[in-house]
Amino acid sequence: MNMNRRELIRKATKIALGVAAGNSLLAANATKVFSQSSNKPAPTKTFPDKFMWGAATAAHQVEGNNVHSDSWLLEYLPQSMYKDPSGDACDHYHLYEQDINMLADLGFNAYRFSIEWARIEPEKGYFSRAELEHYRRMLEACHRRGLTPLVTYSHFTLPRWFAFQGAWENPESADLFARYCEKATAHLGGLISYTATFNEPDLPYLFRWSVLPGTPPDSNLAATMAAHKAELRQQLKAPLFSSFLLGDAEQSRENMMAAHTKGKAAIKSGKSSLPVGLTLAIEDDQPAEPNSRSAEKQADVYGPWLKLARQDDFIGVQTYTRQRIGQKTLPPPENAELTQVGYEFYPESLEHTVRYASKEAGVPVIVTENGVVTENDARRVEYIQRALAGLKRCVDDGIDVRGYIHWSLLDNFEWILGYGPKFGLVAVDRETQKRTIKPSATMLGKIATSNSL
Ligand code: BGC
Repeated sequence: MNMNRRELIRKATKIALGVAAGNSLLAANATKVFSQSSNKPAPTKTFPDKFMWGAATAAHQVEGNNVHSDSWLLEYLPQSMYKDPSGDACDHYHLYEQDINMLADLGFNAYRFSIEWARIEPEKGYFSRAELEHYRRMLEACHRRGLTPLVTYSHFTLPRWFAFQGAWENPESADLFARYCEKATAHLGGLISYTATFNEPDLPYLFRWSVLPGTPPDSNLAATMAAHKAELRQQLKAPLFSSFLLGDAEQSRENMMAAHTKGKAAIKSGKSSLPVGLTLAIEDDQPAEPNSRSAEKQADVYGPWLKLARQDDFIGVQTYTRQRIGQKTLPPPENAELTQVGYEFYPESLEHTVRYASKEAGVPVIVTENGVVTENDARRVEYIQRALAGLKRCVDDGIDVRGYIHWSLLDNFEWILGYGPKFGLVAVDRETQKRTIKPSATMLGKIATSNSL
């Protein structure tokens, strides 16, 4: 706020009189005015009160045996594009209590996970009370240990029956999703603290800008997916079959936006005070050549979702790296450090994307995913430290950031890439299901406990 000297003196005098009259509210204001008049105080290392510190998982990636999902079907096809099938995953379905306790013991105060639509509604119109009860027990375990639960209703995987009806290409998909939101909220809403309808619904558009290593530069991931979908439909003798990642980008976006709006209304009608938002995959897009198309990419991929998010209670930011954009997406710089799956090690993407999303959406930000894929945990430690230093700069500049949720709690099933990539704060022995805490988990847990860098 700009205030000239005379105004400042007038206001200070008024406040001083208020203090003399014992007005404590005015006294608090006095402190504010005087601190505004001096140079901005040096930022402390402390995050805002009640800041959420957590780690995230997604049902299909950790639970195991998600047999009614579209992904399970695709993983076990003879010529599957998945490197490994998900199988037992991390058996989080049975070991959730131990995992939740571990997260709390490490010092965190929040847990982000997803509930699995394919378990809750394994056949169209049949809602399993037993599966809803499972998620109720998970939520109760969070509350017992003082963890704020942030729940995603749809993290990529879909019920198989929904996929056979065209997934998000189906004109009825928004209503079907809203009905699921209504049932889930009626059963679980009382125990949920934050809800995201969707995880990264912008991915199909992002794929159009992603060039796969080893493919011609004019190809893109979306085109590869479309060709694969045509083959699958033949193989399955299912002319409408689709899935989130294979979906036609335009149709899916239209239906998913409607599904978000209807789903949010269904959630709010079950519990009006429940904050609802969505989470977006946002790359730190940087112009790298004259006439860069980076602004065009932002408008194409994130723009419509960030506009929709203006009506929401928060926006979930998920970022891992930067992209250098010229006329197309360029490879990382020559000497860049690359992660286990080939993208650039670039923790500063967090600061840049939080600033961007906050400016565009104008609602509070929760970092719902951020992390790095590496077998060298010392690099994860550095990544987190640098990412959080950037996040703190956002907070110091007045951006309303409510929490930092790291991806991921566990080394888990990384979709098409299978179990090779390591994103976890905690390692998992997939034979014995034994968990081993990595130094990065201890380090981030200490930051969480002190709420300070
Ligand atoms: C997804 C996760 C995924 C992670 C790392 C995000 O795009 O939400 O499911 O495992 O990134 O690739």
